[in-house]
Amino acid sequence: MTKFTLELKNNSYDILTGPGLLEKAGGLIKKIVSGGSVMIVSNKKVYSFHGAALKKSLEGQFKTSVCLIPDGEKFKNLDTMKKIYSCAASAGLDRGSCIAAFGGGVIGDMAGFAAATYMRGIPVVQIPTTLLAMTDSSVGGKTGVDIAAGKNMVGAFHQPKLVIIDTSMLKTLDKREFTNGLAEVIKHGIIMDRELFDFISSAREKILSLDPETMQYLVSKSVRDKAEIVSKDEKETLGLRAILNYGHTIGHAIEAEGGYRDYKHGECVIMGMAAAARIAYEMGICGVNTLNEQIKVFNDFNLIKPLKNLRTGNIIKRLSSDKKVKNGKIIFILTKEIGHVKLVENVPFSIIRKAINGLL
Ligand SMILES: NC(=O)c1ccc[n+]([C@@H]2O[C@H](COP(=O)([O-])OP(=O)(O)OC[C@H]3O[C@@H](n4cnc5c(N)ncnc54)[C@H](O)[C@@H]3O)[C@@H](O)[C@H]2O)c1
Ligand SMILES: [Zn+2]
Repeated sequence: MTKFTLELKNNSYDILTGPGLLEKAGGLIKKIVSGGSVMIVSNKKVYSFHGAALKKSLEGQFKTSVCLIPDGEKFKNLDTMKKIYSCAASAGLDRGSCIAAFGGGVIGDMAGFAAATYMRGIPVVQIPTTLLAMTDSSVGGKTGVDIAAGKNMVGAFHQPKLVIIDTSMLKTLDKREFTNGLAEVIKHGIIMDRELFDFISSAREKILSLDPETMQYLVSKSVRDKAEIVSKDEKETLGLRAILNYGHTIGHAIEAEGGYRDYKHGECVIMGMAAAARIAYEMGICGVNTLNEQIKVFNDFNLIKPLKNLRTGNIIKRLSSDKKVKNGKIIFILTKEIGHVKLVENVPFSIIRKAINGLL
């Protein structure tokens, strides 16, 4: 097991990573939660694979209840929140009780938001089950739901009391979901962690076969990177979290152009990173090796997909309406070299166009 403490002014917490941690969850949570009840929030799919082990472990220590909600981003809304509040009330949760968010990022964000708001805030423990949730969304305290006006528009910062990452649960995740998370892991390597990037470049077979030691290293290193950034900029007030948006400027535009159906978030982030790497090279911010190293990893994992039916002009239009536009200038995170990025405001549209054309 790997243990890492995310240091925050008031709410520091441990992030534990390793295979088989699910069976120990009850004892681990007991150490940090004073109340007697835990409610698992999950969905049918995740719970049918892994729920029994978690429930058994919790039942040894707590009065345990289970709240299953429908699966998918389209249910990440206020109607589903009502369901979670009803479950919490029926289970008799009080302010000392705890919610265990048991699923991917959708569950983590909603269960976290329920914990942030139920009785004005109760503890939450994140037990992420997708690669994306393990390395990204379970850490940092951002919780919330989508509304008609946009994704994640209603929410709260609510840091978990503990993050328990049992990497053996990745075995049941389908390949596309795995790739979705891998995009963010590679991103962490590119923006701040040369060692992680080199490891990914050299361990393709072991990563794809989910070798237990490899996954423990990969996940714990990647989540630690995210945690480091969060600890420096807990509520995103200093702009330091912005580097986590590498690949997301063009990525978000592609995701929106695909109507949030055609491409998964991570697939778009990969394409966005490929374009950003090209932009950095064209602007003389990085050398050709830094560009090629990134493209090689994307190709080695078969992550570059031609974007069918998309038009460069439409993607550029989307970019201009993105929230990362400041005073009419699109802000890009660009690679200086692997492990180091910088914010650049004055990217000429001709270069953006050329980089996007290269993806289509
Ligand atoms: N809070 C944050 O900081 C943050 C950061 C990034 C993303 N997010 C949010 O995360 C969400 C995306 O999360 P996601 O990519 O994990 O998607 P997801 O939660 O929809 O999970 C993807 C699919 O995998 C299934 N699944 C989960 N674990 C499984 C397992 N071990 N075995 C088999 N199937 C499993 C789920 O049921 C679902 O069908 C988005 O809503 C996004 O806004 C939040
Ligand atoms: Zn992302």
